[in-house]
Amino acid sequence: MKNTLSGLSFHRPEHYLQYPIVLKSAKGTNIKDIKGKAYLDLFAVMGTVNCGHNNPGINEVLIKQIKTLWGANLFPTDIQLEAISKINAILPEDLEVAVFYSTGAEAVEQAIRLARAATGRNRIISFKDHYHGKTHGTLFLMQSYPDCYGPGPDSYRTVIENDGKDDPDLIEEYLNEAMGDDVAAVIFEPVIGYSGPRRLHKKFLITVRRFCDKNNIIMIVDEILTGFQRCKGWFVSCQEGFNPDIIVFGKGLGNGYPISGVACTESLFKYMKQTIPGSTFAGNSLGCSVACGVVDFMCQQNFAEKTSRLEKYFFEFFLQPRYQSYGIKPDGMGGLLSISFDDPSFTQMQEIYIHVLQDCVITSHTNNSLRVTPPLIITMNDFEKGLEVIGKCIHRFMEKY
Ligand SMILES: Cc1ncc(COP(=O)(O)O)c(C=O)c1O
Repeated sequence: MKNTLSGLSFHRPEHYLQYPIVLKSAKGTNIKDIKGKAYLDLFAVMGTVNCGHNNPGINEVLIKQIKTLWGANLFPTDIQLEAISKINAILPEDLEVAVFYSTGAEAVEQAIRLARAATGRNRIISFKDHYHGKTHGTLFLMQSYPDCYGPGPDSYRTVIENDGKDDPDLIEEYLNEAMGDDVAAVIFEPVIGYSGPRRLHKKFLITVRRFCDKNNIIMIVDEILTGFQRCKGWFVSCQEGFNPDIIVFGKGLGNGYPISGVACTESLFKYMKQTIPGSTFAGNSLGCSVACGVVDFMCQQNFAEKTSRLEKYFFEFFLQPRYQSYGIKPDGMGGLLSISFDDPSFTQMQEIYIHVLQDCVITSHTNNSLRVTPPLIITMNDFEKGLEVIGKCIHRFMEKY
């Protein structure tokens, strides 16, 4: 079946039709569609384009690499080694890059293989609302998808159905219930992204760390969305002041280019070989060159301070009495932010999202939350303007609701 959108005809993908614009170009925080209409980007390819679209410095290193060497597969390359050393310098203490991939889900699957190889055990404990990707191995770490995706493999994970509750005592109780002889690791997001964004209780990480130490199992922190400055620093795990055994990262490292990776402690490195890591495009030179450009660019910025300001302004804005009277709840951390309605039965966020899009601001949404994840180079002025637009659209929607 053919569809028409903005005068272009294309086959099928109805899931794109809920986003009724066709994008053409982008620069910094501005995106243009094929009709030349300009949008302010508060989406950043789902929190990925932290350094802004079409970043000149990053473009330059990528273009230089395009003219030098693309893929290498089994062989290490100079640019790959350079990327590893730059990332090692900013990882939490005791962690080093073990391997690169192209997508986040591949990196999560490798982290699972590594935890299994190191412990000789099978099961992974995960949390219902924490998203880790859409391969079969990662999708079913989350509980909310099976209905639409059909049955998944069940033998490898125990999903904790904490239903949004993350009080440390309760989490400890859930973890103890989920524990068994065959558990290799616990995996979680340090700030819930895809199903939120939602900030976890500040003792959540410490509770999981303590549990992992007590039971001699591996703690895998999925920083694919939160890493590379999205949440007030290089990684949330650094800020909390203790080291995970494994971190998976992606998104922000590529600023839109597909590159992801796994970092682990020295004691886990020796198990890497037996997991037979790697894939056709893993660690390709183009991705590694972008990673070098991204880390260099980020080192020149003060994104930790910027994301703190974004968060502060966002909370103050939506805690104003007029939004509170609608029951709006701001949440999230740094540049990974959301609003939702106190009333959990409210599932029309897509309608508000479309109003905001029509008013030339790009965000993203779930049924009951609107996500705000701008490029981190955004000026405070633009951010404020973007929130004004969202505020106006909520007001318009509530008047007829
Ligand atoms: C926390 C987290 N983990 C894993 C993934 C999967 O990454 P990818 O879509 O690159 O496979 C995502 C993607 O949104 C994510 O946010």
